[in-house]
Amino acid sequence: MRIMFGDLKIGDTARKYIQRALDSNWVSEGANVKEFEQNFANKFGYKHAIATSSGTDADIVSCASLYDFGANRGDEIIVPALCFVACANSILAAGFTPKFVDVRVDSLNIDPAKIDEAITDKTRAIMVVHTMGKPCEMDAILKIARPHNLKIIEDACEAHGATYKGKFVGSIGDMGTFSFYAAHVVVAGEGGMVVTNNDEIANVVRSVKSHGRPFGSIYFDFQRIGFNSRMNELTAAIGLEGLEKFDQTFSKRKGNFYKLLELTRGLSDYLYFPKEESYEKISPHAFSIVLKDKKYDCPKLYKYLEAKGIQCKTLFASLPTQHRAFQFMNYKYGQFPVSEYIGENGLHFGIHQYLTEDDLVYISDTLKAYFK
Ligand SMILES: Cc1ncc(COP(=O)(O)O)c(C=O)c1O
Repeated sequence: MRIMFGDLKIGDTARKYIQRALDSNWVSEGANVKEFEQNFANKFGYKHAIATSSGTDADIVSCASLYDFGANRGDEIIVPALCFVACANSILAAGFTPKFVDVRVDSLNIDPAKIDEAITDKTRAIMVVHTMGKPCEMDAILKIARPHNLKIIEDACEAHGATYKGKFVGSIGDMGTFSFYAAHVVVAGEGGMVVTNNDEIANVVRSVKSHGRPFGSIYFDFQRIGFNSRMNELTAAIGLEGLEKFDQTFSKRKGNFYKLLELTRGLSDYLYFPKEESYEKISPHAFSIVLKDKKYDCPKLYKYLEAKGIQCKTLFASLPTQHRAFQFMNYKYGQFPVSEYIGENGLHFGIHQYLTEDDLVYISDTLKAYFK
């Protein structure tokens, strides 16, 4: 593959922190994790940052924290029909039921106009997902959530450093989640983070991620249902370097994002492209395209791009109606027409920091040749 989805080069900072852990003979949660949490919180201005073993676990512990705030097992959490599968899986893993809502084709994000009709007596939260680093329409979502007393979990796993009306994502709702899996803007190999400005939520999340013990305790006093979702020292070491390089990585990727948009401008009759509004800052997670007409045959385009060395992924598809895993929920194809359309006609690929201008020209030329 010439254009990989992401790439990681491990440098001296990560090696220094890995060595520190090795020298201390302690690689479970410790000094590196603490420093990673503090640096992450300081960098983006979150009051609390709580490291977890993955972005999926960040979502699970965020959902499970809701039991301390009036939720009961089996209650519902609203989630977009189209997003990475971990969002819906984590709602189920935490003991809730995902209630799916369709997305918009221009943002790939949950459609605020369709949230109200999905709210029932059992709804306790909305998990919004800032897909491909594009912030959701948070003003509209807050306006819907507050009168119903719903908590908002912002899944920002693809949106490190994205802002909406001057605020970093993850600080607008009640809590936010991040992933440091390979190919994200900050990589730690695996790993995640829950952020919140609320002290009470922070204490509950810290407890849930460590078997439900009171925060700071290692004794067997279990106050709530919890998990082992802790990060280890080696993961945090790599994350610390990713965070140190954040500005550089972000601006190189953002440059790639705009360069590719400019190079592919002539294809706008064929494709929907991402669009950054004046009041937001998109995090350059990846580059998405959606065919404007089915006749251009997405599976063929996918195979063509991969054959040309461009590593491709679909755009997730409608979880409830296009993935076997969710068949047990009895949703029917046609209930989420926009997600289903994007699922059948959307792709995304990498715009990572190690791509050169030649690589971007290559991607653009390859796309143009397909539509000729
Ligand atoms: C939106 C979203 N949520 C959750 C996750 C899960 O993160 P992880 O792979 O670290 O478990 C991902 C992963 O990329 C994601 O894109």
